[in-house]
Amino acid sequence: MKILDIIAHKRDGRELTTAEIRWFIEAYTAEQIPDYQASALCMAIYLQGMSRRETVDLTLAMAASGEQLDLHDTIPFAIDKHSSGGVGDKTTLVVQPLVAACGIPVAKMSGRGLGFTGGTLDKMEAITGWRFDMDLAQFKRQVREIGLVLAGQTAALAPADGKLYALRDVTATVSSIPLIAASIMSKKLASGADAIVLDVKVGSGAFMKTVAEARELAQRMVDIGHDAGRQTVALLSDMNQPLGYAIGNALEVREAIETLHPDGTPPPDFWAHCVEVGAHMLLLAEAVDSLEEAHGRLAEARDSGRALAKFRAMVAAQGGDVAQVDDPDLLPRAPHVAAVAAPRTGYVSAIETDGVGIAAMNLGAGRAKKGDPIDYAVGFHLPLKIGDKIEEGQPIATIHARTAAQIPSATAELLSALTWSDEPVPPMPHSHGTVESQK
Ligand code: URA
Repeated sequence: MKILDIIAHKRDGRELTTAEIRWFIEAYTAEQIPDYQASALCMAIYLQGMSRRETVDLTLAMAASGEQLDLHDTIPFAIDKHSSGGVGDKTTLVVQPLVAACGIPVAKMSGRGLGFTGGTLDKMEAITGWRFDMDLAQFKRQVREIGLVLAGQTAALAPADGKLYALRDVTATVSSIPLIAASIMSKKLASGADAIVLDVKVGSGAFMKTVAEARELAQRMVDIGHDAGRQTVALLSDMNQPLGYAIGNALEVREAIETLHPDGTPPPDFWAHCVEVGAHMLLLAEAVDSLEEAHGRLAEARDSGRALAKFRAMVAAQGGDVAQVDDPDLLPRAPHVAAVAAPRTGYVSAIETDGVGIAAMNLGAGRAKKGDPIDYAVGFHLPLKIGDKIEEGQPIATIHARTAAQIPSATAELLSALTWSDEPVPPMPHSHGTVESQK
């Protein structure tokens, strides 16, 4: 087989064969194809698209390009979740212990964040001493003993995706629906998931800006899951405003603990979202007969303190300081905390959520480029939602900064992300529906 022919086939709008796709992935992973030819193929795919069959073949080939985890010697059924990323998205920190406290083990591998969407591992590293690097034996032991583990994704898992993603990142070919779908699903398949709940974010703080785009990506991914023999459902969840109130690593851990705490008062949108994701996980794991039953089970897991106890056990097993779980005041705290006052009276009509994420990144909460250090303490507390009526001068946010000099620019960036209206504005829906496989 020749890479030149494969590029030409795709350029001319032909469907690639299963053999061509497998050969490309194997040869590219083995470094037998130079980046310039792989880039040309990515661009041809970007422009010509891929059929469902091609996308499934690409996903399976990428999943098979490295180690493939099989957890069945440890747990009978592996359920996983994946979020396409957003601002203030600390869902995994809450959903994983909630589901585990309902008796369904959750063995998860997560990634770091890049840019304004923070990664789960970065958030958890705000807890002093917490580590995500572990060998497979420890990973499995922890699932057996606690029913909950949160590890880093190893480079040995779907290495073709790692190489291709880096290439797409520098060739303007990231935002191709078949390539994104194959990238995400190859990692889920390789990490041994029997069933997957996909949380596809839509809106100003998400990859997918419109419901139509998000639905298309979600459909691709659930179809891949179905064709690969995994039960998969996608939730389309709103990201036109940050999820919950906290943005920034330690602040988000604190909000997650508050949400898990039996006496806590979680932000209503965040709790509703965690319950929705968790309920679909319980349903796919056949732990419940209906979403309503799942809602009751999840609320009970929280109210009884079992979910928080699971989280605490996971932190302890992974070397973290449990005193910070027991008393979140001990988490890293920024030396400069300042309130932001509303510049006018009115209703909040829109939030440029990516702008809020970038403002948090500029404070040091995220990485502008791979390898940048993170300041765990900084970020925003923004208890403000679209539709809220606000009076001029009312405190609307708190900035947590490393230096006093950062406060004016963070204030300006935050305020410029808000749009106001004199007329009442309806609240944003939290969910835009679910997507299941079209068999
Ligand atoms: N996340 C991924 O893992 N891959 C993509 O291509 C886009 C987002």
